Amino acid sequence: MRRFCYRCLRYVFKYWIVHLWLKVMFFRQVQQHGDNFSYIIADDATREAAVVDSSFNAGEIIRVLKTENLKLKYVINTHDHSDHMAGNEELLSMFNAKTVAHKLSRINADVEVEDGDFIHLGNVSIKVIHTPGHAPDSICLLIDNKKLLTGDTLFVGECGRTDLPGGDSRSMYDSLFSKLLKLDDAVEVYPGHDYGAKPYSTIGEERRTNYVLQPRSLMEFIAFMRQP
Ligand SMILES: [Fe+2]
Repeated sequence: MRRFCYRCLRYVFKYWIVHLWLKVMFFRQVQQHGDNFSYIIADDATREAAVVDSSFNAGEIIRVLKTENLKLKYVINTHDHSDHMAGNEELLSMFNAKTVAHKLSRINADVEVEDGDFIHLGNVSIKVIHTPGHAPDSICLLIDNKKLLTGDTLFVGECGRTDLPGGDSRSMYDSLFSKLLKLDDAVEVYPGHDYGAKPYSTIGEERRTNYVLQPRSLMEFIAFMRQP
């Protein structure tokens, strides 16, 4: 019996070490309203979860959260445009979660974040990168230095428009070239809309193929963004 317990303990210890080392993460891209993407991120061990950009109909998100037995901790919005946050209320009515948004957001968020902040879900860490340009409060979320949720800042093969209220091409240039393109080529890119040839990409692929990201001076980029 003592021998059996020792083996069990050894197995549990090994599993725990491997789990910590691999930092197993639950990640799901959900398309539930037109071309809007929502995301569910969770720590596999603690089941703590966050939903990013709830969009208009949270039905599929709620189904996944319940099926996977996830504990919704945060509802995060990459910016305050209605197509990204309209499902917040539905989620908050069903789960005891906190809203998270950039401090410039018009959302009255429970947790206001700024560039460089971290959000934690168990062992999963989410770094906030402030990327104004499409909207003043736009943020991208870098998960465990591997996956980047880009909201309406960067799409597969495109970038977000800068001609809406609060949009600014000068800020977009800085966000794209001084922040996102500084990331490693292997980082996976998950956008806020399904506008590209495929639903996700990598920084390296976007650097090579996205026509918006081809080398331009600031003035050339501003003129480029004015083109229809
Ligand atoms: Fe937007």
